[in-house]
Amino acid sequence: MQKMTAAITAVGGYVPEYRLTNKELETMMDTTDEWIRTRTGVEERRILKGEGLATSDLAAPAVMNLLKKRGIGAEEIDCIICATVTPDMFFPATANIVSEKVGAINAFSFDIGAACSGFLFALTTGASFIESGRYKKVIVVGADKMSGIIDYSDRTTCILFGDGAGAVLLEPSTDGSGILDSLLKSNGSGKQYLHMKAGGSAKPASIETVLAKEHYIYKEGQTVFKFAVKGMADISYELMQRNNLSSEDIAWLVPHQANLRIIDATANRMGLPKEKVMINIQKYGNTTAATIPLCLWDWENQLKKGDNLILAAFGGGFTWGATWIKWAYDGSNY
Ligand code: UT7
Repeated sequence: MQKMTAAITAVGGYVPEYRLTNKELETMMDTTDEWIRTRTGVEERRILKGEGLATSDLAAPAVMNLLKKRGIGAEEIDCIICATVTPDMFFPATANIVSEKVGAINAFSFDIGAACSGFLFALTTGASFIESGRYKKVIVVGADKMSGIIDYSDRTTCILFGDGAGAVLLEPSTDGSGILDSLLKSNGSGKQYLHMKAGGSAKPASIETVLAKEHYIYKEGQTVFKFAVKGMADISYELMQRNNLSSEDIAWLVPHQANLRIIDATANRMGLPKEKVMINIQKYGNTTAATIPLCLWDWENQLKKGDNLILAAFGGGFTWGATWIKWAYDGSNY
């Protein structure tokens, strides 16, 4: 019998209805549809509208979608891990709120914060719980309500981000499929280029921090861009090398959707043609921890048992990583 791995056995997703198009952004600030498309690849992004609605209101429907597809009840879930940088509140964890909303009464739940790499960090953590033999059903959900931390007068940032959530179910597998390898990295010296200045213990919220707009994303776009191109491409290549995978072996690259030019650079380094790259940045923008599971959700019905997938991300921290998955089921069955 092969060693026990953690396989993704179902995928769920949710995006809110409202579409914030480039055309609408043109009416709000000095920008153009053409600039946004050519520099980023984004055409529209989804925005969660409604008083009091939060990240858990994105994550819970994604989890419900997954449970319905897999045909299991929420009470069967052992653990829910939520990757997010936009938690409903500082505490309790958004994963706890999601557990309550979906009725996962037997699950323990917690959040992971690794910005745009959050889903990969959470996926690797969840996989370890399965591989240890201790738990049988772990849900990993990447969810972010980025519109809650965006300054819509900052044209260099607001054009990029959107709201959404994607979730996967992990279960034990012994047929050689599942999460086979991961490379994860962090470098705290990158924090100065991408962060939120206030609201944490270093600078608690005050009237001054609100007036200075310090509760929004602060980003030095060009610097992040350069680190992201190198970080995401290098780590994906390193993962291929250490597992003796050639570009022919890989069915799909599932990249974090931050900028189409970063995705193209990663695919080029891996020697992959465009047809093997999942790209949905044009319709959702950068949904931070949700981009990768939203790609899996959009492409699920094209995935076949045995397909090799490389998931790759780069984000605030800096954090970055790549994960090799041998897909466990024919997605067209769903
Ligand atoms: O997932 C991890 C997080 N990822 C990121 O933060 C994304 C990384 N960075 C990027 O994707 C790119 O750096 C951006 C899309 C943010 C910016 O693209 P860029 O090619 O690096 O543009 P730039 O910052 O060098 O700006 C070029 C010009 C500037 O004008 P000047 O100084 O040349 O006159 C900007 O002021 O484009 C101007 N500009 C805009 N023009 C129209 C910046 N934003 C806009 C805009 N519309 N929305």
